[in-house]
Amino acid sequence: MSDAIAKSASKAASTAVQRCIVPGCAATFGIREQIYVCPRCGGPLEIELPLELLKAVPDLRERWQARAASHDPRDRSGVWRYRELLPFDDDAPVVTLFEGNTPLYDAPRSAKYAGLTALRLKHQGCNPTASFKDTGMTTAVTQAKLLGARTVVCASTGNTAASLAAYAARAALQCAILLPQGQISPAKLAQSMDYGAVVCEIAGNFDDCMRLISELADVPSIYIANSINPFRIEGQKTVAFELLEQCGWRVPDHVVVPGGNMGNSSALGKGFDEMLHLGLIDRLPKISVIQAEGAAPLAHLFAGLKPPEPAADALLPDEIAPVSNPRTLATAIKIGAPVSWKKALRAVLGSHGSIITVSEQEIADAKAIIGRDGIGCEPASATTVAGIRKLVASEKIHAGETVVAVLTGHVLKDPDYVSNYHRGTLSFESVTAGGTAKTVQISGAFRNAPEKVAATKQAILKSLESRR
Ligand code: F0G
Repeated sequence: MSDAIAKSASKAASTAVQRCIVPGCAATFGIREQIYVCPRCGGPLEIELPLELLKAVPDLRERWQARAASHDPRDRSGVWRYRELLPFDDDAPVVTLFEGNTPLYDAPRSAKYAGLTALRLKHQGCNPTASFKDTGMTTAVTQAKLLGARTVVCASTGNTAASLAAYAARAALQCAILLPQGQISPAKLAQSMDYGAVVCEIAGNFDDCMRLISELADVPSIYIANSINPFRIEGQKTVAFELLEQCGWRVPDHVVVPGGNMGNSSALGKGFDEMLHLGLIDRLPKISVIQAEGAAPLAHLFAGLKPPEPAADALLPDEIAPVSNPRTLATAIKIGAPVSWKKALRAVLGSHGSIITVSEQEIADAKAIIGRDGIGCEPASATTVAGIRKLVASEKIHAGETVVAVLTGHVLKDPDYVSNYHRGTLSFESVTAGGTAKTVQISGAFRNAPEKVAATKQAILKSLESRR
């Protein structure tokens, strides 16, 4: 990098600020202030980069592309490769597991199932700890190092925990994770144990864990790594850059993501917005968020915005009605009070996308179809293909449009669910409008249970023949 360019880029990093996103407040704070919400009004914070200054850095796209062939540890990370747009100086103590660089797959069977000519799946489950959380954890834990934190903490439905535990181990920081007891996939829990975190199983749900986290926010030696932390979002936004690079900088018509705590949708929205401001793309993809029916506070709020409100920040509602007892077998998104709902809603409204719900049966079948493409994912990720199918049926997405779904976690994250679906033993505790609980069996339209086959060549050939 020439001296002049290096100077613009590093000046951009040091002139970044944390800004409150509430339009009437918009207060700014230094990027090394250890805050998570606006100290003035309690609103969400985001990192604001001096994009005008960054416009002076020529050939950003070529620069990023060239780094993919370099052996510098920062260039081997699919997050730090885009460091001009990250709020860190060149000498930051980068904590990386070489996250990002995830594949974008064609998925013809999933496309057909959803009613599309073509569908691409960006598989964030191919990250070091097998979920999309790693792209945000590399930046959040680097910031924790910079601030001199002793302990990093998070509330989690499993993946944030596994990711934070791994990055904390790399950084030699103590890590504590708060998990809703009995509501986490054992595979995710096992990861956190292996990475050496202090695993606190809380008698409550994810939203209770999140409440405890906000109580810990005033302890100076503790750094919070949930997506309320704007440095998480900075790392996660780079997925938008990498995706566009993989699309040859041709903007897809739609990008569809699952919605839980709403960090992912917020981050993608920010990434696309920054590229638009920098002139790297000439329009935004429509960002749509899919929630599970039993844990869908933002979809309910969105459905109440009629006619769909324009994107103006001033029109964002002040409050969201939480779902007090969220229910879904997609435990990763079993969340009733998402902390980043405002940023996510802004991203969806600003890009003219949608927020809808899908049923447990729809999630389960979509997950099995993604498997049939040879890709696989965890249940929460499959909300995307289930949601796209509904959006095609309601003509919000047209068959010939370009669509990318973001798969957030690996198929091995929740092996019990997968096995139960294929064996026909998956069931869901649902609650009727009157408040009574009933068990609903999830049928396996695409079941593929193992069968007992005699130990002979003939029996194997017969079995193959019967399944042709
Ligand atoms: N998909 C998976 C696999 C997840 O683990 C999560 C969130 C989401 C989707 C939703 O993303 O919260 O950014 O809207 N998991 C968090 C956790 C809550 O603790 O692991 P979001």
